[in-house]
Amino acid sequence: MPADDDKYPTESGRRRFVKGVVGSASLAAVGTGAAASVGVATSASGAGGGLTQFVGIENTDGPAPRGMPLIPVEVGSDGTLSGSFPDTVEDGVAQTEIGGVNYSSAWFQYCGVQTYPGVDPNADQDNTFRVASGAGNTYAWMSDLNAGDPLTVDMFDDYETWGNGIGRSGLGKPALGSWRSVDVSPQETMVVQVMRSTKIQELRQNPPEGVDAEFLRAATTEEGFIAWLNKCTHFCCVPGFKHLAGSAAFGGENAVYCQCHQSVYDPFSPVETSFVALPRPE
Ligand code: FES
Repeated sequence: MPADDDKYPTESGRRRFVKGVVGSASLAAVGTGAAASVGVATSASGAGGGLTQFVGIENTDGPAPRGMPLIPVEVGSDGTLSGSFPDTVEDGVAQTEIGGVNYSSAWFQYCGVQTYPGVDPNADQDNTFRVASGAGNTYAWMSDLNAGDPLTVDMFDDYETWGNGIGRSGLGKPALGSWRSVDVSPQETMVVQVMRSTKIQELRQNPPEGVDAEFLRAATTEEGFIAWLNKCTHFCCVPGFKHLAGSAAFGGENAVYCQCHQSVYDPFSPVETSFVALPRPE
């Protein structure tokens, strides 16, 4: 899947960006204490910037500085899947406590997403996960679905055996979705990945070290769903779980792989870490 061209840094901008990435990584290394929730709620230039603690799928290889942030999944009574958005807005930042974790709209404020309409706590959007435009080009099973239609539990019924010839079958069934982005331009659409896996069901039974167990159980579902903002934390490309056969050459065939610079993320390893969120323009 192509990168977001408009967000990809130009050659001259890339050097500046790399400096920023290094700085963020350094801060992330030391900034995992409880005090690092949302370091700066507001500033003259916007809302929600500053040191932010979050839970994401772990970055295990490549140049990405950290994981991609989780979106807590909810299953409606009709089987519709949606992503919970923090419900308390203060100083332009949406926040809510889940377990020992402060879930905040600032989690998504990087790589230009801080300017997207959907990250605004007051956006006129529902939280339904919907079929992403062009999703059928990434996953053949999605090719008969219409962009914008809600993702529903029954679409994932074969999750225990699903495979597409990349890596091992039966690890989980992924979908490419959009979130809080109805009638929003493709360049400003919040692209997400939603997955159902028995490994997520197992994780709920035996939460790993490094993530708040109560948060993990709230952010995933008993049906085995997990979701994350699908925006690479390196240079903002759109990665994917089992979306490219070539990922096997870089050890990414059973993981989430970013084709731009070969970063790999483990969707079965949620970890708590921190980064410096960019302020959302007011
Ligand atoms: S954008 Fe560089 S590894 Fe993803």
